[in-house]
Amino acid sequence: MRVLVIGSGAREHALLLALRRDPQVEEMAIAPGNAGTATLADQYEVDITSRDEVVKLAQRLGTDLVVVGPEVPLVLGVADAVRAAGIACFGPTKDASRIEGSKAFAKDVMAAAGVRTAGSEIVDNPAHLDAALDRFGPPAGQAAWVVKDDGLAAGKGVVVTADRDAARAHAASLLDSGHPVLLESFLDGPEVSLFCVVDGETVVPLLAAQDFKRVGDGDSGPNTGGMGAYAPLPWLPEAVLTQIVDDIVKPVAAELVARGSSFAGLLYAGLAITSNGPAVVEFNCRFGDPETQSVLTLLDSPLGQLLMAAATGELASFGDLHWRDGAAVTVVLAAENYPGRPRVGDIIVGSEADGVLHAGTARRGDGAIVSSGGRVLSVVGTGADLTAAREAAYALMKSIKLPGSHFRTDIGLAAAEGRISI
Ligand code: GLY
Repeated sequence: MRVLVIGSGAREHALLLALRRDPQVEEMAIAPGNAGTATLADQYEVDITSRDEVVKLAQRLGTDLVVVGPEVPLVLGVADAVRAAGIACFGPTKDASRIEGSKAFAKDVMAAAGVRTAGSEIVDNPAHLDAALDRFGPPAGQAAWVVKDDGLAAGKGVVVTADRDAARAHAASLLDSGHPVLLESFLDGPEVSLFCVVDGETVVPLLAAQDFKRVGDGDSGPNTGGMGAYAPLPWLPEAVLTQIVDDIVKPVAAELVARGSSFAGLLYAGLAITSNGPAVVEFNCRFGDPETQSVLTLLDSPLGQLLMAAATGELASFGDLHWRDGAAVTVVLAAENYPGRPRVGDIIVGSEADGVLHAGTARRGDGAIVSSGGRVLSVVGTGADLTAAREAAYALMKSIKLPGSHFRTDIGLAAAEGRISI
């Protein structure tokens, strides 16, 4: 099968590496890709938010399966256009992608499906902001304010703070720029990312993972797109996983079918395991980054065949997934000043080793690989357990040099030391 992957992050690099292990995948292409993915697949410079450009490229390459990585093309209907051209596509329709693209839509679906999630309120009028903040802050028994952009914001539209002034300032700046704000109650408890391959009402869960959204060790500093992840989760009982799939993901998939917005692609449940059980923080309509780098490293089943089955309505007969033993830890190397405006254009040394997955990288005319974005690359370490996987990941990170760059040193540490309990 000929596969075209859309995207340019470490998630797409991980997708290509896993697709390459599938004996039925004969050719791989990526648009637009980065300096690392160029060694695995033919690369094409197209505007991935343009339905027309993606369809034309897929047709020109004789593509059998298009796999859309990021949320923006999905929310804009790129998967609809690919399917309309008669090409199989792994990625939900524009309609179903609202589960990520509109938090108000997601809340409505969850309410109808009877799924536990944080209480919330949309504020679209600055005159209503103060009263709404009063309803959601610590005086009402919450540990913090959670202020989100109602639309897509690559993880960076979220501020979680116990400081009312900071919550107000973030909400006011979103409103000033014309973005409705979602205020949420704070969900306490360890977070879980569960990726499920979904085709209508059929739900196939992958390994559960945990990501680290704050920029600094000990969950300090601002939110980012994700600074690291590990899988599987030794502290999460099998029964809780089953509960998440049966009581959360399956009812949401069924509700989307009932609304005529059937989902075919990757449904990503972001959850908090609270003292009252799992509750949804958010749904996303695509593979998460950086969790994908850990999860797909451990996948033993053929990824191309799995994604093709979901894209063509055959997922129910795909069979059980198989996983490698052990654990995988991903650590993100970020450019100086990320998650603010990153410093770019610096030469990266050591990025061509196995286990290094590229994101914000480009190859210069003279052959040097340079940084070109905030999250520059991920390193992935594997081992018999989390401790061994952490050692492998951090040993690899030590061999990479990028001026001004930074990374977290505590990815997976609390779990490896048995400090997470539910
Ligand atoms: N891991 C966070 C995200 O992909 O949105």
